[in-house]
Amino acid sequence: MKSKLKDVLLDLRKRKRALMAFNLQNLYHLEAAKLVSERLKVPLIIQFSERYLRLLDEKYGIEFLIKTYGNDFIYFHLDHCIDLQFIKRCIDFGFDSVMYDGSAFDIETNMKNTKIIIAHASKVGCLVEGELGKVSGVEDGFGEEGSSYAEIEEIETYVKETKIDLMALGIGNAHGFYDDLKGLKTAILKEASNKLDDQQFYVLHGGTGLPDSIIKETIDYGVVKINVSTQLKKHTMDLLKSYTSGNDLYNEISFNKLMTEGLSQLFEEYLMKYTQ
Ligand code: 13P
Repeated sequence: MKSKLKDVLLDLRKRKRALMAFNLQNLYHLEAAKLVSERLKVPLIIQFSERYLRLLDEKYGIEFLIKTYGNDFIYFHLDHCIDLQFIKRCIDFGFDSVMYDGSAFDIETNMKNTKIIIAHASKVGCLVEGELGKVSGVEDGFGEEGSSYAEIEEIETYVKETKIDLMALGIGNAHGFYDDLKGLKTAILKEASNKLDDQQFYVLHGGTGLPDSIIKETIDYGVVKINVSTQLKKHTMDLLKSYTSGNDLYNEISFNKLMTEGLSQLFEEYLMKYTQ
């Protein structure tokens, strides 16, 4: 029987490992994620930004995506979203977790809306991710430049009041590649590491470009979900470039193989490093 997402997270935390959450954009990505999870028998999260999920929903329907690309190792998650109706739609279709990102609002509004989503999600065992402090950068149309740091007192209030499952913190992390890591303050996570109860977990956004040592340090401080997006997009474009410079153009079968195998190799590297 398929393990519940909460149980997977609890097990990983015990083993000081983390669940990889890949932001996927198209059917090649989805095929590759399914392929690698079955090959390694390792859990992973397929997550969508709101923009791409709306696109895929329009073309194929959420039900089709879950049915076709789900299996015993894959969990579906909606990334940053403030549209309560759209979040509820994902919950109703059977997503394993959803994110309400109210980090741009004052904490009262953030908590109020988070609680609305938790009330809906908890009826069907869907986990909810919240955010405090802003992760910098625009991710598929969501967010803006300029980060802010999560504050310890706010974290304490937010996690106690909302009983959130998954907690993302702004610690100077950013979506996209980093120019430098001077603004990164893992000390915030360290200080916040004892603020959660044993059913709550930290999430690290902005996984692209972070050195292994930093990611491992955040796992030590309670991170159990690691988000990666930009690196996948870059890898996709690198694969496309390698295809167009080869001799096998106009051949969908070899193109499909290159994309799914190439992407699954990248997924595998992450899964072996942080989850397995
Ligand atoms: P990157 O684009 O930096 O990998 O961040 C992904 C992310 O945090 C998605 O929420």
